[in-house]
Amino acid sequence: MVLIREAVIQDLESILNIYNQGIEDRIATLESEPKDFLYIKEWFEQHKGRFKVIVAEQEGQLLGWSSLNLYNNRCAYAGVADLSVYIAREYRGKGIGSLLLTEIEMFAKGNDFHKIVLFTFPFNKLGQGLYLKNGYREVGIFKNQGILDGKYVDVMVMEKLIVQFK
Ligand SMILES: CC(C)(COP(=O)(O)OP(=O)(O)OC[C@H]1O[C@@H](n2cnc3c(N)ncnc32)[C@H](O)[C@@H]1OP(=O)(O)O)[C@@H](O)C(=O)NCCC(=O)NCCS
Repeated sequence: MVLIREAVIQDLESILNIYNQGIEDRIATLESEPKDFLYIKEWFEQHKGRFKVIVAEQEGQLLGWSSLNLYNNRCAYAGVADLSVYIAREYRGKGIGSLLLTEIEMFAKGNDFHKIVLFTFPFNKLGQGLYLKNGYREVGIFKNQGILDGKYVDVMVMEKLIVQFK
């Protein structure tokens, strides 16, 4: 059985390994160099309170993680969270991302976020499968938005309104 729970400091090594797989695979992020433990420790320290990190665990093994990140520190955007989801290579496409997404959205709703946004690559089909299936919509594509391995790449913006206003 897969357990979804809040991340603790002891999870950081696994969180880092899974993140570095995402970096290495060139499908998830504009980051291109593997990160070290100090990086992930500082990242974790910035994820307190509303900016939650959760993990998926099975028999003591971490299969993936998800986080709500600061979208923009202007107070007008306080209700908007940026999302990350990373699943270990051998566990992708098995429903773990959907479990994490459901849980993190519930947390976001209960913590005064009304919207989740994310930035993905147009060619990240597994990512889009996960997001579209879970009610995210494509906002649009930034052309030549970032540089990855010396080449400009397009970035797709997606969003989900988790609380509706009248
Ligand atoms: C993207 C990612 C988070 C998705 O999580 P996941 O656990 O693999 O996704 P799920 O198994 O929950 O499946 C999501 C949906 O995608 C669709 N899907 C599955 N395989 C697919 C494929 N090969 N192509 C397109 N869509 C696919 C399905 O609709 C699936 O839902 P279903 O099987 O219940 O019908 C995960 O694959 C991952 O970590 N990838 C590398 C890092 C990354 O890209 N992170 C996201 C950055 S934006």
